[in-house]
Amino acid sequence: MKTMELAEKLAATRELSDEELRQILETDEFDQTLFNLADKRRREVYWDEVYVRGLIEFTNFCRNNCYYCGIRRDNRNAERYRLSREEILDCCEEGYRLGFRTFVLQGGEDPYYTDSLICDIVSEIRARFPDCAITLSIGEKSRDSYQAFFDAGANRYLLRHETADELHYAKLHPDSMSLANRKRCLFDLKDIGFQVGSGFMVGSPYQTTDNIVADIRFLQELQPHMIGIGPYITHADTPFSNFESGSMTLTLRLIAILRLMFPYALIPSTTALGTIHPQGRELGLKAGANVVMPNLSPVGVRKLYALYENKICTGEEAAQCRGCLERRVLSAGYRIVTAVGNAKTETES
Ligand code: 5AD
Ligand code: FES
Repeated sequence: MKTMELAEKLAATRELSDEELRQILETDEFDQTLFNLADKRRREVYWDEVYVRGLIEFTNFCRNNCYYCGIRRDNRNAERYRLSREEILDCCEEGYRLGFRTFVLQGGEDPYYTDSLICDIVSEIRARFPDCAITLSIGEKSRDSYQAFFDAGANRYLLRHETADELHYAKLHPDSMSLANRKRCLFDLKDIGFQVGSGFMVGSPYQTTDNIVADIRFLQELQPHMIGIGPYITHADTPFSNFESGSMTLTLRLIAILRLMFPYALIPSTTALGTIHPQGRELGLKAGANVVMPNLSPVGVRKLYALYENKICTGEEAAQCRGCLERRVLSAGYRIVTAVGNAKTETES
């Protein structure tokens, strides 16, 4: 089948065979068709709405040692920081004033923040901002911990699966980590009742087209509310310093494919996409993404949360970031809405 027909088949049926997926992933011939179909679909479900999530990167200490990540445990060059409970709450206050109704608390896997401290912070945010969604992104925990976070008032959780292929997973992570546990976490989170976000990096070292097909199949099994993908970006202080960064074109193509396969999903146009290209986030929106996640962390620590190099949005005030993104979203042909922004379902659209 021609790729043009493949794109139309995907739009009509939300499904392609493995072989068809490989074909559509490996040619740039009909990207514009894919983008147009994906944008048409996103407007049918979400009109021109773009949801904002205020990202608070509250610690860059991490007990893990993922080979791709700039804040991995063994990176001695990383200057480490932690935000206090009060500093985190201040970020939320500022965010609320700026119109954010979702706070994403993201950090390395930092044992300093015990379950009870996380629960304490979450329940305080829940009490102060009852109309907001609280998202956690703090890695792999036990089911009991996840349940405690949920009971304290958190209602969303972001945990990318990173790659759904066992062998590829082992090339990206040390032996202490496993794909099986990552999947266990994701299914536990769903089962508890969290709205779950998963995803992977595009162009990570050793990634093959077959790996990406496996990622798509895993997402079809998990059915997450949010799917976050962004290009892998090299960091000099990691074992992968000699690998090239992932490509913007493949990331955009994948966003469009995901929009057509998961019409109701929340798909962020990520900071990593904005980092590899000055218009990356705008192009991500035009390819089917419908979420942006501006930085609400205190300006003084933004540069330190360096998962990868040259990260954007590290110098601006929270308010400037919000305004900047507002203009960028408008210039792409969409508009930011102040709403909690839950994923829509088939019956609502
Ligand atoms: N390049 C791009 N994304 C990265 N992440 C971690 N390191 C990098 C990198 N070097 C992503 C991972 C993680 C998310 C928080 O950031 O996918 O889940
Ligand atoms: Fe952060 Fe533009 S969105 S500076």
